[in-house]
Amino acid sequence: MGKMKKGLILSLSVASSILLATGCSSSTSSSESSSKDSKLPAVGATIYKFDDNFMSYVRRAMQDEAKGKINLMLNDSQNDQAKQIEQVDTLIAKGAKSLAINLVDPKSAQTIIDKAKPKDIPVIFFNKEPDASVLKGYDKAYFVGTTSSESGVLQGEMIAKAWEANKDKWDKNHDGKIQYVLLKGEPGHPDAEARTKYAVETVKDKGIGVEELAMDTAMWDATKATEKMDAWVAKYSDKIEFVIANNDGMALGAIASLEKAGYFSGDKFMPVVGVDAIPEALEMIENGKMVGSVLNDAKNQGKATIQLATNAANGKDVLDGTEWKLDDSKAVRVPYKIITKDNLQEGKDAYQ
Ligand code: BGC
Ligand code: CA
Repeated sequence: MGKMKKGLILSLSVASSILLATGCSSSTSSSESSSKDSKLPAVGATIYKFDDNFMSYVRRAMQDEAKGKINLMLNDSQNDQAKQIEQVDTLIAKGAKSLAINLVDPKSAQTIIDKAKPKDIPVIFFNKEPDASVLKGYDKAYFVGTTSSESGVLQGEMIAKAWEANKDKWDKNHDGKIQYVLLKGEPGHPDAEARTKYAVETVKDKGIGVEELAMDTAMWDATKATEKMDAWVAKYSDKIEFVIANNDGMALGAIASLEKAGYFSGDKFMPVVGVDAIPEALEMIENGKMVGSVLNDAKNQGKATIQLATNAANGKDVLDGTEWKLDDSKAVRVPYKIITKDNLQEGKDAYQ
């Protein structure tokens, strides 16, 4: 820090006072600022927890988009809804002109609106979709995310296609059905609920029989997924024919467990699918340890969130100068896309 300060003073004699003032506080764990110009409009933002693989990519996209346009006050809510509400109070007290909120609990949207609405502060919720009725209750509340069900349908299509092509090898008990285990995201999260439902339904709709051996939440988390998978491998051993994960973090956790059990070496194989297409998963697809993923476009969701929040902070129409559209529930929905070995580059492009 001492050296850095000196460097700044030497190289930026004029603007240094502002930079140093904010630079000194940037080490706090629950708050950081990517755009340090206090003359820019202030936008308050929260991420439900920084320690979420996918959200770390969304966060990076938000910071990139914010540079030079807004003073982004970004908070880590550390998976604690009470903490997030305090952060929102502080952001409003600090003069935030708009809010970009990744809820901890999707059911807490109304509490945030109750704080913002009396002060006429627009709120852009992102990633965790609030109930449509809650968004309707405040004309300056919006959502940036996806159509949750789409990711489930696409994951199901990917499973069905891969199964049809490989069932001679993968249908270990030769009953024509897929014996699967499913790692679910956070219960009550619209993405977790929809992916769980639509992935399996889509496989069935394609005329493929399924049998659920086990299903449980691993809260989007790799370590928790490894623990779950360890237990399932111990209990069902080679009865498991497919691992379906609501996100890549958990798919990667499952793969770690399967590797310990001897999978992915010799002819011991297990098909695993996830959602997000994060770079770590793309690597697994590339080296044959994952069948595929569904691209959850972190870059465009982060970008759209900041674009809407910036417009809102400047008193403009939220879509002004952007490529986005709002649907009838005031939501911007970024499309998903199936990613397999065949189109790996599309996943790589989306995350670079
Ligand atoms: C992503 C998950 C992530 C979650 C956080 C989902 O859209 O697919 O990877 O953990 O959002 O809310
Ligand atoms: Ca079978």
